[in-house]
Amino acid sequence: MFRCGCDGAALAFARLDVRQEPTIEPPHRRNRAGARGTGRERNGQVADKVLTEDRVTDATGAFALSVAPMMDWTDRHCRYLHRLLSRRALLYTEMVTAPALVRGGAVHLLGHDPAEHPVALQLGGSDPAELAQAARMGWDAGYAEINLNCGCPSDRVQSGCFGAVLMERPALVADCVAAMIAASPAEVTVKCRIGVDDQDPADALPRFLEAVRAAGVRRVIIHARKAWLKGLSPKENRDVPPLDYALVLAMKEAFPDLSIALNGGVHSLDEVQALLAQGLDGVMIGRAAYQRPADILCGADARIFGAPGGCDPWQAVTEMKPHIARHMASGGRLHDVTRHMLGLFAGRPGARHWRRVLSEGGTRPGAGPELLDRALSAVARDAAA
Ligand SMILES: Cc1cc2nc3c(=O)[nH]c(=O)nc-3n(C[C@H](O)[C@H](O)[C@H](O)COP(=O)(O)O)c2cc1C
Repeated sequence: MFRCGCDGAALAFARLDVRQEPTIEPPHRRNRAGARGTGRERNGQVADKVLTEDRVTDATGAFALSVAPMMDWTDRHCRYLHRLLSRRALLYTEMVTAPALVRGGAVHLLGHDPAEHPVALQLGGSDPAELAQAARMGWDAGYAEINLNCGCPSDRVQSGCFGAVLMERPALVADCVAAMIAASPAEVTVKCRIGVDDQDPADALPRFLEAVRAAGVRRVIIHARKAWLKGLSPKENRDVPPLDYALVLAMKEAFPDLSIALNGGVHSLDEVQALLAQGLDGVMIGRAAYQRPADILCGADARIFGAPGGCDPWQAVTEMKPHIARHMASGGRLHDVTRHMLGLFAGRPGARHWRRVLSEGGTRPGAGPELLDRALSAVARDAAA
């Protein structure tokens, strides 16, 4: 079995028992104002050229701010919530392994709501043919971008390695992304670390970027710290190795034609703006966006994309209710959705009560969307106090 080092949980084949998700519909057509074009030819395989360009251009235009792929966190319910808070930010799925899709037939792992767009599918794997097939499946399922995970600390002893260990195999990664690009009209991107173990990042990272660029990749996300594949847990690997923003900025100077987003330790839109002002093309936020979604995403459309926007958590709760009702009507549990909403009022009056009512009540048998009203009443009481 493959193991995902991202959260230490067994993945892939272990997830094949996941309940069948609703049928995937084609992505809806969105207003593209403000999106940056890619200008890339896409293998001439595309029947609906306009739809293709909409989808890919939307993802490229959204690259300035993205929410990171996070196993067990950025599932389709979480992404639905995030999309209510920002129309523009680019959202990423949890990692799905190519073997699960191709050999395991786990197509339901691609299930998503068209309202989530622009949304990118993250794949894990290291077999070019299998990744190519998985990338095509992702494109056919409606994803705008297919991202290859080269950043999760993964277990080297497993056959079919994936994640950060691929930092040591730039030629293999180049083969993988070349195969993915050939197989799918989607934009193929890479998320990587600055290096692993004893690698010298100043040497390893440019070699890695050179290889993926030569293979046709135009956008990369760099988690600005090393991963230690031995000795640190996946969680420690997100905090212990020091961040090196200067190296990521230097990569942007060395590879001006690559769109580069920085990831790691960013906690606010002020920081995002400061990094973009230094020449980066994007910033990806993980934990802060999950734990304080309204703080990060409500101001994003106006401040990062110069688009009309703004939202408040109260409105988001109201808009989540139909989604919850649909999920429960198809046999899902309230908690599947509300677990991603616990941080919605973080930093605001009533945050503690909101979290408590939802976390205590969400798993009770028979719990339904009315729990949200109870939690909101608690917030209102605190706000009025
Ligand atoms: C719970 C959790 C799960 C994660 N799963 C993935 C994953 O599936 N794929 C991936 O590339 N990174 C994964 N990561 C790493 C994040 O994408 C991100 O690189 C990391 O958290 C650093 O960004 P941050 O400091 O903004 O959180 C995960 C992080 C967390 C906290």
